Amino acid sequence: MKMLLLGKGGREHALAWSLSRSPLVGELHAAPGNPGIAQWATCHDIDPCDPAAVVALARNLAVDIVVPGPESPLVAGVGDALEEAGFPVFGPRQSGARLEGSKAFSKSFMARHGIATAPFDLCRTLPEARTALEKRRPPYVVKADGLAAGKGAFILDSFDEALSVCENLLVKGALGDAGDTVVIEDHIAGTELTLLAVTDGKTIRLLPVSQDHKRVFDDDKGPNTGGMGAYAPVPWADKALLRRIEGEILTPTVEGLKEDGIPFRGILYVGIMLDNERNPWVLEYNVRLGDPEAQVVLPIFDGDWAAVIDACCRGRLGEIVWPSSRGAAVGVVIASGGYPGSYNQGFPIEGIDTLSGNDFLVFHAGTTRNSAGKLVTAGGRVLTVVGLGKDLLAARDRAYETARLIRFEGAHFRRDIGRKAFI
Ligand code: GLY
Repeated sequence: MKMLLLGKGGREHALAWSLSRSPLVGELHAAPGNPGIAQWATCHDIDPCDPAAVVALARNLAVDIVVPGPESPLVAGVGDALEEAGFPVFGPRQSGARLEGSKAFSKSFMARHGIATAPFDLCRTLPEARTALEKRRPPYVVKADGLAAGKGAFILDSFDEALSVCENLLVKGALGDAGDTVVIEDHIAGTELTLLAVTDGKTIRLLPVSQDHKRVFDDDKGPNTGGMGAYAPVPWADKALLRRIEGEILTPTVEGLKEDGIPFRGILYVGIMLDNERNPWVLEYNVRLGDPEAQVVLPIFDGDWAAVIDACCRGRLGEIVWPSSRGAAVGVVIASGGYPGSYNQGFPIEGIDTLSGNDFLVFHAGTTRNSAGKLVTAGGRVLTVVGLGKDLLAARDRAYETARLIRFEGAHFRRDIGRKAFI
């Protein structure tokens, strides 16, 4: 098969690595890709969110399947344009991508289909937001309806702060259209899990459960980021819990989409909050693999990822013999100094070319090559270093041994990725 991968981050590098291992993949292309992806794929410098450009590239290359990495092309309708041009896409159309693209839509969807999610109000004006906040106690949860690159969810200790966030979004337009509606919901305390499922709209298959580390500093301190690390599998996410999540969340989600006439295939990412009684609540849906969760889940998936994608696109996921996972993986994100605030880029990355071994992987996210061909930093999250092992302790040691060998000016990473597994 000829496959075209859309995106340029660490998740897409992990996808490229997985697809490159499949005997089914004869040619792999990426748009736009990155220097790590370029090791496995031919990269094409086009905007993955431009439907016409992606369709033209797919036609020129005569690809068999398109695999969008991030949600943005799906929300922008690239999936619809490709399908209308006859290309199978491993991801939903715009209508299904609303599960991620609109929190107002996804919360209403869950309410309509009896899927557990925190009670909520949708507010379009400041007086509506005030009334919704007055019904609740701190901490207050306010979320912008639309995509906001991880900057649209707020947990606030005081009523005044919460109202001021609502004012910024609804009145001052701090996030543009994304903040035209806000979701105000009850706060549910507990532990977050990432549940990734593959579905062709009929069959649902679970990938290993993982946990993301969103705050920038150890012990979940500091501001939120796109994710500073992840590990998989989560040892305490046992079969009974997964059966419950499948029965109470995943199956009703896929059935609900069908009932609503929304075709859906690809990845269903369910952000779960497990409350203190171990009840699962849906925090959010995404319609693609997590980043950095993909970087730990794909390496321990003991199957042929291209075969999964192909079967899913043909509506034949049920025919795949689903493998169990293999060992454990811990992924540590090395970020630019200052991230998630402002940071400088263009710093040479040292120590990466001399690494050797088969129990770690280094996925590129924010990297590029300068005019001299030298690998330099080009983003906030620069690399994800993934340690592999028979268990999480071995994987964690390997990840940190490797991360310490990679250097660039201002580099920082959390030292406690995976510790939550043992608490
Ligand atoms: N790691 C969180 C996400 O991918 O949305």
